[in-house]
Amino acid sequence: MNELTAAFDRLAPWVFKFRIRDQDYGGAISALGDERLERFFCFAPDAARVLELGSLEGAHTVQIAARPGMTEVVAIEGRAANIAKASLVQRASGIANAEFVQANLEETDLASFGRFDAIFCSGLLYHLPEPWKLVEALPAVAPKLFIWTHYARDAEAEVISHGLRGKIFVESGLEEPLSGMSPTSMWLTLGSLITALTRSGYGSVHVLHNDLTHPNGPAVTIGATTSALPPSISGGEG
Ligand SMILES: C[S@@+](CC[C@H](N)C(=O)[O-])C[C@H]1O[C@@H](n2cnc3c(N)ncnc32)[C@H](O)[C@@H]1O
Repeated sequence: MNELTAAFDRLAPWVFKFRIRDQDYGGAISALGDERLERFFCFAPDAARVLELGSLEGAHTVQIAARPGMTEVVAIEGRAANIAKASLVQRASGIANAEFVQANLEETDLASFGRFDAIFCSGLLYHLPEPWKLVEALPAVAPKLFIWTHYARDAEAEVISHGLRGKIFVESGLEEPLSGMSPTSMWLTLGSLITALTRSGYGSVHVLHNDLTHPNGPAVTIGATTSALPPSISGGEG
């Protein structure tokens, strides 16, 4: 057994599989070729400083950091055990321009990390009890926000909070590496998610993909920007 295999084994179990120097380590799911990353790079092709929210084992982080022209990725993650895994992946992959920070996104002041070109928020929003609070804080942090999230079907919406409709989801606890940090979360309906984004200052909210057949519930990919129109259309350039 080589040293790296032993290091991965010590931190098992893993969710994601990592290909490092032609050998596979970790779990069963490869994030190589993940269409969410492809959509993110299309949405924010020139982003050089990226903030990632809920980075788990760093499977997306290392790929974003390895993109040509990327100067820095700051990845926020709530669980120390996930950060330990991501740090191993980072070291083993020789990625120098990523930083993993342990923080609870239900309460962290994201402005303290400075300004970014884009935010990559995949698999995180539907784990929050008050997702609108995070959404409200994001326009001040970056002009571009990429989201992949599950949402509540309209027929499932049973609660209204902060003027937004959704359903309450029971989370799996602090020991579960993929879960939220609070006992429950609120899954917004797609309409309410778009309302929350618009209300928070995103002048442009585009649904990039809408997966109605995901086994865990409908999942939407959204690209939101704080300017209503691209500069070439609004006359802000040239
Ligand atoms: C479902 S996983 C998504 C992982 C990855 N971003 C992806 O798209 O595959 C959710 C991740 O968000 C983290 N997370 C959930 N709630 C959080 C919170 N309040 N603060 C920080 N991290 C959180 C979890 O620990 C986990 O790593």
